[in-house]
Amino acid sequence: MRKELNFDLTPLNTFRMKVRCACFIEYDSEEELTSLDFESLPKPLKHIGGGSNLLFTGDFPGTILHSRIRHVKYVDLGLDEVPVIAGSGVVWDKLVEELCGHGLWGAENLSLIPGEVGAAAVQNIGAYGVEFKDIVTGVVCYDLKERRKCKFTAAECAYGYRESMFKEFPGRYIITSVLLRLSRKPRPRLSYKGLEGVDASSPAAVREAVIKIRRSKLPDPEELGSAGSFFKNPVISAMDFAKVIDAAQGEAVPHFLLEGGFVKVPAAWLIDQCGFKGEKEGGAQVYEKQPLVIVNGSGEASPADVLELERRIIASVHERFGITLHPEVEHII
Ligand code: EPU
Repeated sequence: MRKELNFDLTPLNTFRMKVRCACFIEYDSEEELTSLDFESLPKPLKHIGGGSNLLFTGDFPGTILHSRIRHVKYVDLGLDEVPVIAGSGVVWDKLVEELCGHGLWGAENLSLIPGEVGAAAVQNIGAYGVEFKDIVTGVVCYDLKERRKCKFTAAECAYGYRESMFKEFPGRYIITSVLLRLSRKPRPRLSYKGLEGVDASSPAAVREAVIKIRRSKLPDPEELGSAGSFFKNPVISAMDFAKVIDAAQGEAVPHFLLEGGFVKVPAAWLIDQCGFKGEKEGGAQVYEKQPLVIVNGSGEASPADVLELERRIIASVHERFGITLHPEVEHII
């Protein structure tokens, strides 16, 4: 267990915001977590994962908690469907690499997504036609309200597009491990644009293809601070979509039809149309290759720079298309 006061969070958020917290606690096991004297810690309490999907809007007055529960257990690698238990502090992409190395199918499309297992379960991470919800069967937590261990089935987690039950009860459940189910039988999912026709002879081959696409489009958090997609892709009604088509003035509008007559429009396209590619605000910048991403271009961007760029993008897209973009990145106030 590690406990630090007035702790520098810069290395723990991939946006590289220079912020501090009053108290920082990193625990190595479920036992260490449950033995904490939560009452005595500076409030509020906030649990983070790899810090890859959040924006600290300033110094944090309370306690930041971080899991270092890093076990990966295979129930029986010989089964057709292999149950895997992974600790919340396991680095997501290390897990995917290991699963692919064992020839297990299911997680390969989720390669190179930054962050850790616990956050993946809160956020329902997704990429290239696959979401975390497609491979999870259960989530084990510590309930801070009831002060006891509890377990949820995947259905109880109520997963949706970057949504889950855990977001409905912020701060209540601390995820300690997840139960996944991977497949030994080939199960490639290659329908996403760019993945069609790639070598699908093994999960590792698909992983390679996904990594290649991600590297060509998204910034490497090691080189350029960011929190991945900054906004969610808006899901709108057919009527609102008709207004977007009008506003596009003859430009073809990329879109995906969903159940119930709803339409998903790429936020990247809307932001691009509003001329924001490469746009700067202080040290923050809209990423040239993927305008859905805001980067810490100078390395010195402040939370205020990012918030102002966010405000301008939302205002512009709303004015031109009548759509309100919502951030995907969690803002920690
Ligand atoms: N587009 C443009 N201009 C650009 C780039 C893209 O107009 O410069 C439009 C194109 O129409 C393109 C569309 O945006 O077809 C979609 O782009 P892309 O396939 O790259 O995916 P996305 O919808 O922008 C989502 C996820 C990503 C995930 C990719 C791949 C969200 C918020 N983002 O992005 O997730 O990697 O799909 O599946 O759903 C993340 O969550 O941090 C993340 C990176």
